[in-house]
Amino acid sequence: MNRPAAPPRPIRLLLNGEALEIADCAPTRSLLTWLRESRGLSGTKEGCAEGDCGACTVVVGELDPAAPDGVRLAALNACIQFLPALDGKAVFTVEGIRAAGGGLHPAQQAMVDCHGSQCGFCTPGFVMSLWAHYNNAAGHTQRPPPESACSALSGNLCRCTGYRPILDAAQRMFALPAPFDRAALRDQLRNLDTGTPLDLRHPAGRFRAPRTLDALLAARAASPDATLLAGCTDVGLWVTKQLRDLDDILYIGAVDELKRIDVRANRLRIGAGASLTAAWAALVPHWPQLAEIAERFASPPIRNAGTLGGNVANGSPIGDSMPALIALGATVELASVRGNRCLPLETLYLGYRRTAMASDELLAAIEVPLPDDAQVFRSYKVAKRFDSDISAVCAAFALRIEPATGSDAAQIVEARIAFGGMAATPRRAATAEAALTGQQWSEAAVRAAMAALDADYTPQTDLRASADYRRRVARNLLWRFWLETRPEAPLPTTATRVSALREGARQ
Ligand SMILES: Cc1cc2nc3c(=O)[nH]c(=O)nc-3n(C[C@H](O)[C@H](O)[C@H](O)COP(=O)(O)OP(=O)(O)OC[C@H]3O[C@@H](n4cnc5c(N)ncnc54)[C@H](O)[C@@H]3O)c2cc1C
Ligand code: FES
Ligand code: FES
Repeated sequence: MNRPAAPPRPIRLLLNGEALEIADCAPTRSLLTWLRESRGLSGTKEGCAEGDCGACTVVVGELDPAAPDGVRLAALNACIQFLPALDGKAVFTVEGIRAAGGGLHPAQQAMVDCHGSQCGFCTPGFVMSLWAHYNNAAGHTQRPPPESACSALSGNLCRCTGYRPILDAAQRMFALPAPFDRAALRDQLRNLDTGTPLDLRHPAGRFRAPRTLDALLAARAASPDATLLAGCTDVGLWVTKQLRDLDDILYIGAVDELKRIDVRANRLRIGAGASLTAAWAALVPHWPQLAEIAERFASPPIRNAGTLGGNVANGSPIGDSMPALIALGATVELASVRGNRCLPLETLYLGYRRTAMASDELLAAIEVPLPDDAQVFRSYKVAKRFDSDISAVCAAFALRIEPATGSDAAQIVEARIAFGGMAATPRRAATAEAALTGQQWSEAAVRAAMAALDADYTPQTDLRASADYRRRVARNLLWRFWLETRPEAPLPTTATRVSALREGARQ
């Protein structure tokens, strides 16, 4: 029996603690323009409008049973968030964080005390990243290690103060108490929820946010041309930079089952709607070798908003999660009203930003087989900057080495090598893999595989790197893998990577 359609309802959100209803909203209206132009909250700035500079940083609170007091607080870039996606959430801007008596919040006071601001354009963004860092630390009841401030602020750029005073402020603020009542926010968020999914219609288009996977798949089948939206960290730029009109949006972020992460039958299953922050937090304990890539993937605001599913589905040749996932033997689960099917991740990509997903399908989950003692694995990202930069080349190597038995030497029984930045899609290196399989893990084998890489890839020259540089880096990354994992005298990462010194310093 068909249920009658729910009556349309406005967006309901909390802005600096005040409950608001917004009925008149174009589907791609950005949170930033709404704050500045409709609410007069001009403390939140626009710098780049593409998630890079952090001038627009706000903090968003959401119900999350796994978070302290059931509320998750996360810094986000308001410039690339569509306002309807904030339905049911709490938005905090720099205007809303003053202490109850009207005084400055410790994050603001510490910036004053440490001279952390000059022209001030970046300052509200820094303050909001600091505010999230402060409250998340307090929420977890332990002050975070001082180095973690570098990570928390890696999505904020300042062109005149210099970062040392700001990092000093990030320490000083913890000496100033300002309790935040998460339980009260949780109750306010619960009161916002009417239980009705958002289906917003506007002359500029429609924004639907189904609450269940079944409803989402039915809408996908009925509207195959609608834009699927997850964390909006790619799609947001289609609007702010390419000036595209998106008039039918199907948002996956309200479907809780797509955010689930669990282990089933010895496989780590990550729902496509899980944030990059949550996905990396689930991957790194199983593969600590991924800690650096996780840290260097964009910035906290992008990782808080963006999803692993969005990274994989988008299919960018320089997406950072795919080489590692492919090398680890990940599969993807595609869902539609016709049922579900699973594919090896590498077969999802048919060509430049073309995937095997049918028009009524969506990516439901990514599954990665858990490691065993025979697996030797590394993944490396090469970009011009350590933080918040897109890869020139991203590599992942996974070998299965059976130990020596009797007179038989240890042998590579499976080699999986994948690169980003070397072809139109993230791709395996079949020739190099063949050069290693059945061999001992030896210098001769690695040199043969390095030479074989030239047959696997014909990279392009672009603004990030020349084709020749990419070819050389690819070979050298395989050599680095050998140096770090060779049976005799493997080198510690501090001997092979400058970045490892910084990574160590941050932990
Ligand atoms: C400043 C900045 C820095 C960045 N740095 C990095 C980086 O270091 N490394 C990197 O790899 N990427 C980076 N990105 C790219 C981006 O953050 C990632 O690709 C992100 O994972 C996209 O996820 P999303 O949820 O935001 O996707 P969205 O923008 O919502 O969607 C992206 C695409 O995937 C589709 N899609 C989303 N979810 C699904 C699904 N479940 N099923 C089918 N299709 C789906 C959408 O329709 C759309 O075509 C960066 C982006 C910005 C703006
Ligand atoms: S304006 Fe630069 S990140 Fe949003
Ligand atoms: S104080 Fe001027 S950009 Fe940071």
